[in-house]
Amino acid sequence: MITVRTAADLRARIHEWRARENRIACVPTMGNLHAGHLRLVRHARAIADRVVASIFVNPMQFGPGEDFTSYPRTLEADRAALMEADADLLFIPDVEVVYPRDLDQMTRVEVPALGDILCGASRPGHFAGVTTVVAKLFNLVQPDVAVFGEKDYQQLVIIRRMVEDLNVAVSIEGIATVRDPDGLAMSSRNRYLDPGERAIAPCLYRVLGEVRDRIDAGERDYGAVERAAIAALTRAGFEPDYVSIRRAADLVPPTSADQALRVLAAARLGTTRLIDNIEISVS
Ligand code: PAJ
Repeated sequence: MITVRTAADLRARIHEWRARENRIACVPTMGNLHAGHLRLVRHARAIADRVVASIFVNPMQFGPGEDFTSYPRTLEADRAALMEADADLLFIPDVEVVYPRDLDQMTRVEVPALGDILCGASRPGHFAGVTTVVAKLFNLVQPDVAVFGEKDYQQLVIIRRMVEDLNVAVSIEGIATVRDPDGLAMSSRNRYLDPGERAIAPCLYRVLGEVRDRIDAGERDYGAVERAAIAALTRAGFEPDYVSIRRAADLVPPTSADQALRVLAAARLGTTRLIDNIEISVS
């Protein structure tokens, strides 16, 4: 695995692979890699000739007072894990490489509406930061395929929309959420949880399961189901941000005709913000 830090070095390597007609897959990350990230890399390995992983803690997607400076940075362990997963190239640009100007002077890529709801409502500017950095990575890597996790479901829907709207020639693959044995979705932010919070955390996934059970049992008053889920999270010790049942494809509120749904939730445990979501099928 080669490690590259500049856009010029990355382009040179990509140029070589393109000339050989290699199929290139890209896996963008912010590092502190866990089994969820590595599932993405292994999937990329299975479907492409060349796997490019990136690690970049992207300042544009963090709001003021969020955890940009404290975000876990574990480069040596990450590099070893990526070698083990058989990635071909690790791109680890410095902030100045990605953002040569002040952040507020940089061109942005923004998906309206979809970027302003759910997590976008409580994290203004977050998804513009995500789509901007992902668009830049796509321009640098020119991947045939890029792999993202369903763990960040809204992010996945937004990136699919960006690719469609901007005619980017990359296919987007979504990978099911990888969980700890007790159901907690793996996340770099789980390490912020103290032992008491860690014991409560799997309740988020359980509550999403209860939402699915109620809908499977025939309940169609989605508002009532969401309110019950928020109450259950509060009782468990969370400060819920939202629990929302949406149409899976575009995250609009579902109509009675919609069959492919997603229930998404965000809730704070102490200072840590956790998110999760699961699929719901209505027949
Ligand atoms: P990060 O949180 O590091 O996640 C990188 C990728 O791993 C994302 O596609 C995310 O959905 C996926 N992922 C994280 N936890 C997962 C889990 N438990 N199961 C399956 N996939 C999981 O998401 C980002 O970084 C950034 O926003 C990024 C897209 C890199 C842009 O900066």
